[in-house]
Amino acid sequence: MTPLLLDQLRHICGPANVLTHDAPATDLSPWEQDWRKRVTGRALAVVRPGNTAEVAAVVKACAATGTAIVPQGGNTGLVVGGVPDNSGTQILLSLTRMNAVRAVDPANLTITVEAGCVLQNLQAAAENAGFLFPLSLGAEGSCTIGGNLGTNAGGTQVVRYGNTRELCLGLEVVTAQGDIWHGLSGLRKDNTGYDLRNLMIGSEGTLGIITAATMKLYPQPAAQLTAWAAVPSMEAAVQLLGLAHQRLGPGLTGFEVMGQFALSLVDKHYPQLRVPLWQDTPWCVLLENSDSENEQHARSQFEGLLEAAMDSGCVSDAVVAENLSQAKGLWHIRETITLAQAQEGLNIKHDISIPVSRIPDFVAETDALLAREVPGVRMVDFGHLGDGNLHYNVQAPEGVDGKAFLRENEDKVNTLVFDQVKRFDGSISAEHGVGELKAGKLPLYKDPTALAMMRAVKQALDPQNLLNPGRVLPLP
Ligand code: FAD
Ligand code: MLT
Ligand code: ZN
Repeated sequence: MTPLLLDQLRHICGPANVLTHDAPATDLSPWEQDWRKRVTGRALAVVRPGNTAEVAAVVKACAATGTAIVPQGGNTGLVVGGVPDNSGTQILLSLTRMNAVRAVDPANLTITVEAGCVLQNLQAAAENAGFLFPLSLGAEGSCTIGGNLGTNAGGTQVVRYGNTRELCLGLEVVTAQGDIWHGLSGLRKDNTGYDLRNLMIGSEGTLGIITAATMKLYPQPAAQLTAWAAVPSMEAAVQLLGLAHQRLGPGLTGFEVMGQFALSLVDKHYPQLRVPLWQDTPWCVLLENSDSENEQHARSQFEGLLEAAMDSGCVSDAVVAENLSQAKGLWHIRETITLAQAQEGLNIKHDISIPVSRIPDFVAETDALLAREVPGVRMVDFGHLGDGNLHYNVQAPEGVDGKAFLRENEDKVNTLVFDQVKRFDGSISAEHGVGELKAGKLPLYKDPTALAMMRAVKQALDPQNLLNPGRVLPLP
C-alpha cells in the first residue's frame, strides 16, 4: 500500500515535491524536528503541494489508505504541533509552496493570501498597498499565515488589534475527506449558521487544512512611538497599563513586560544589543503608541503618560525612542528574549493567561511555591501584559544541565504552575496552542463539557482521526 500511495502523491504533486528518507542524501530534519528541538519525528514523506486542488487530492489519497497527515507551515510552533510522530507512517504536508498573494481589495480593506505566505511577506504586501496588517511576532520572518491561523497566534499587537482570529474574515479549507470549502467571503457580517471559520482557527491542523485566507487590513498609523520604562513591581506594571489605556485609548498598540532575569539573558548572550535600564529594576515595560494624527501629537501624549506614571510612582525611569531605528532596536531586544533563553539551555516554557488584575498575585504566589519546591530555579518571565498573557518560563538552576532538569522536574513544575493558573481562572495556553506538549494536560484543566464538545466536533469532521492525530486532543 505504501509504495502505491507514494506513487500517487508523486503523480499529484510532481516527484520533486515528495521527499522520502530512501532518496540518497535527503535531510528531512528541517520538517521533522520542532523549533525548540524538543522532538524529532520521522515522516513517511514530506509532501509539498503547489495549489489547493493538489492538497485536496493528497488528502483524498491519504484518506483512502488511512494515512495520517500533519500540516506544517514555517515550523516555528512552540508546542510540538507541526512535526510528524516517529512512526514513519505520517505524511508531513508542507504548505510553503503555496505562498501567493491572491488579491488585495482596498475598498473592502482585505487581502487574500495562500496559507504558506510568510507573515513578513504578508505585512509587506499590505504595506505596499498602503495598509497595515498588524499581526506581529518574533517568528514573522519564517512563520506562515496558515500556521498563524492554525494556532490563532497572538504576538505583540493584540492589545489593539486582537489575535489572528480577529484579523480573519474568510478561509479556504480542505476537509479531512479531501473536499474543498470555499469560504473566502471577506464578509464582515454572515449569520447563516455555525461559525466554521472560527472552528478551524486555532484547531492546529486537527479539523481541516487551511489553504488560503482573507485577512483584514487597517489604515497605517500616521506616527508610531515606542517607550521603554523601568517599573518597580508587577503591580506598578499593571497600574501603568491602566494609565496607558486611559491616556492613549486605541493608540495603545503594544504593552510588553520583561523580567530582569529575562533581560539579563539578552545582555549575556547578545551584548551588542545594549539593553536599557534593566540592571536596577525587577521589571521593564515596552509600550507602543500608534497615532492617527502626527508624531508631535503622539510624543506629547506619551510624555504626558510617562510624567503621570512617574508622579504616581509606577515608573522609575523611562526612555522614548527618538526615531524609527531606535524603536526597532527596542523591539528587537524584546523579540530576542526567546533566542537568549534558548541559548541559556533547555527550559520549561509556559504560555499562560490570567485576568490582568490578578497577575501580580499569581506571580508572587507561584514564584514562592516554585522556589520552595525546586530551589534555585530561575524565572524567565516576559510577555504580553496588555493581554494578560505571560511567558512564565522556568530555567534550570545555575550550572544544572537543562536536559536533566527537564527529565526530573518538568511534570512537577507544569502541575504546580497549571494548578495555580486554574486557581486564578486562567488558561494553560494563551497563544501558542496545545500541540502534543500540552495535549495530555488539557483534560485536567479544560472544562469537561467543553472537552466533550471538542471531541464530538473532531469525531464529526475527522472520523478517521487522520488530521494531526494526538495533537490538541490526546490519543484515546
Ligand atoms: P507551524 O509551526 O508549521 O505549525 C503550527 C501548528 O499549525 C501545527 O499544529 C500545524 O499542524 C498547524 N498548521 C500549520 N499550517 C497549517 C495550515 N495551513 N492549516 C492547518 N493547520 C496548519 N506565537 C505567538 O502566538 N505569539 C508570539 O509572540 C510568538 N512569538 C514567537 C517567537 C519565536 C522566536 C518563535 C520561534 C515562535 C513564536 N511563536 C509565537 C510561535 C509560532 O511562531 C506561532 O505559533 C506561529 O503561528 C506558527 O506558524 P508556523 O507557520 O510556523 O506554523
Ligand atoms: C514571544 O512572546 O516572544 C513568544 O510567544 C515566544 C516565546 O514565548 O518564547
Ligand atoms: Zn508571546
